[in-house]
Amino acid sequence: MTTPSQYKALFAPLKIGPVTAPNRFFASPHSTGHGWTEPKGAIALRAMKAEGGWGTVAVGLTEISPNSDYANHPMERIWDEKDIPRHHLQVSEIKKHGSLSAIELGHGGMQSRNLTTGLPIIGPSNLSVLRPEIPSQSKAMDLTDIKLFRNEHKAAVKRSLKAGYDIIYVYAAHGLSILSHFLSIDTNKRFDQYGGTFENRIRLLKEILEDTLELANGNAAVALRFSVAEPNKPNGISHEEEGRDAVEALSELPDLWDVNLSGWPKDSQTSRFADEAYQLDYTNFVKSITSKPVVGVGRFTSPDLMVSLIKNRKLDLIGGARPSIADPFLPSKIKNNQIENIRECIGCNVCVSMDAYGVPVKCTQNPTISEEWRKGWHPEMPAISRKKEKHLIIGSGPAGLECALTLANAGHDVTVAETRNEPGGRVAQEARLPGLNAWNRVKDYRVYQLSQKNNSRIFLSSHMSINDIKEFGSDTVTLATGATWRADCVGSTNFEPIETKKYTILTPDDIMLEKFPNSTLNQFIVYDDDHNYMASVIAEKLLNNGHNVTYVTPLPTVSTWTQYTLEQAAIIERLKSLEIKFALNYKINQNFELINTIDNKKLKLTSEHVVIVGGRIPNDQLFSDGQLINTIQNVFLTGDCLVPGTIQASVLSGHQTARKILDRDADILYSKREQTIQ
Ligand SMILES: Cc1cc2nc3c(=O)[nH]c(=O)nc-3n(C[C@H](O)[C@H](O)[C@H](O)COP(=O)(O)O)c2cc1C
Ligand code: SF4
Repeated sequence: MTTPSQYKALFAPLKIGPVTAPNRFFASPHSTGHGWTEPKGAIALRAMKAEGGWGTVAVGLTEISPNSDYANHPMERIWDEKDIPRHHLQVSEIKKHGSLSAIELGHGGMQSRNLTTGLPIIGPSNLSVLRPEIPSQSKAMDLTDIKLFRNEHKAAVKRSLKAGYDIIYVYAAHGLSILSHFLSIDTNKRFDQYGGTFENRIRLLKEILEDTLELANGNAAVALRFSVAEPNKPNGISHEEEGRDAVEALSELPDLWDVNLSGWPKDSQTSRFADEAYQLDYTNFVKSITSKPVVGVGRFTSPDLMVSLIKNRKLDLIGGARPSIADPFLPSKIKNNQIENIRECIGCNVCVSMDAYGVPVKCTQNPTISEEWRKGWHPEMPAISRKKEKHLIIGSGPAGLECALTLANAGHDVTVAETRNEPGGRVAQEARLPGLNAWNRVKDYRVYQLSQKNNSRIFLSSHMSINDIKEFGSDTVTLATGATWRADCVGSTNFEPIETKKYTILTPDDIMLEKFPNSTLNQFIVYDDDHNYMASVIAEKLLNNGHNVTYVTPLPTVSTWTQYTLEQAAIIERLKSLEIKFALNYKINQNFELINTIDNKKLKLTSEHVVIVGGRIPNDQLFSDGQLINTIQNVFLTGDCLVPGTIQASVLSGHQTARKILDRDADILYSKREQTIQ
């Protein structure tokens, strides 16, 4: 297929110092959760991006030495010679597809944990380390320590060259680098040539860049990842002041500028809080200062926008971390004029949450991610099946659609029956809540793909009784009928139903279906015993409608789980700006009173309406009354109807169910594991 002329600029090669990127797609450095202990998984994940057309594929933050030990966060390592073969394999798997390989060398400084090595954490000054979970201070580096650090960095550069990397990064981003700690007036309290003035605070970064360039010596390009602004951070650098000064001071030194925002929550913002290209207002000045190529990020998925950024000289390379996770084949789909086949990132940050847990990343849009090596899954190749069968799927939510698409891709005949008059189930419903519109992408991608096939169809407004199912006569029936929010207060901290006549009890389903008193302004309590995003968006919707809302939760923090998606601070800010009231540590008791979990005091509220955001009940009645299983042999449950969870878990469940259907003898629990001693 020929590349549409309007996108040709995205496929022009670009010289980066001594190397040439084959196109403008740059898979930005990101850890994959595999760390250095599961290299085969990480390598296969990155090789898939190269196969999918990303012209440059970067490895995530790689610890340069034992005193930059992030464990138990699984990072890459290049501590000594023994690490080289692993990196060498990674480089060759990326290069196999004609892509450049890049490594991001980093030292965590005051963000290190050093829990494995037990070495002192080092930094510019003797201060508490920047991790509340580590009750330690950093050793203020003396000039000998600084020299040692430079030598360690040089040694890591030499090892990276031996491994064959095309681009070697100096990392000064996210406030996660010792170089950022030297630059920051918060953490640098020195009085010597490395402290005080801007010129002194940036000295170490400049020296490290010069060391790296000298060693690379034209055999690899040197990139600098630099956060030009730290929005909302007191004393943070700004793109109008020291962020800009730094770019001016180092302007022609690196072969490639990779610019972004700091900290990580500002860099990897979710779609609820930031639109595509959200970083450009901060980063687009860089091209006007340097003649060197510039790569930037901002959840880019729109080819037209990408082209305009290149043509208007805002960026030279389109960086993508999450877009490359959601669709490793995004570049080749643009190249082959298959724009409508792109699985666009929905900006939910479930990938980030997995990385934060320290496990291989998972993705709402791409259920095959991290299973490339373990299970041999490929995002674009159909699952293998023995014989062609006829399948009925009841429910067109994320699990039902993914299950249907995986079966249809394998050439099977698939019918989806949906009770409602629109497809999408929970994603269609949730997408109408404030800030969650991008959830529709989960539905849109799959509905479109199914609509392009002769062997699949979706019937809307089609309620299926047991008799209907029997008459339909398929080889398998899969229930993907979702789950219903509970009104009885059973949730993550309470396991006994609680009832009341004192209040009107509502659930998120009622709010999403607009079944709540909305004509007059009311007082609402939103009781969060779910702890993900839902209670906060329900509160936001009610506040937007002018109601008074008190957010109550038995836990000590707001939307506790959203710390894993990096959204918690943004949620609190948003709700505060809408003048919500917070009541933390209050739990509903059996008399439906709100009791403080610390001092047992009762909370008096005037509200008549309580929205309970707690557990959900699987909609599995068709299965649980036994009739279906007595009638049909091959019945499967999938998604929330099997186990209520995240949308990502539903999509993965739908995918797993389809693979189980395609190979009924397969053990879906089985996957290869990386063994150190065999
Ligand atoms: C799971 C995950 C892990 C990340 N790990 C790193 C990392 O190791 N080093 C780094 O510089 N940035 C890391 N990032 C940040 C990304 O490189 C990128 O700057 C950010 O996600 C914004 O780009 P995007 O909108 O294309 O995702 C990570 C991002 C994600 C989603
Ligand atoms: S998990 Fe969500 S944010 Fe991460 S890549 Fe997938 S769709 Fe995008």
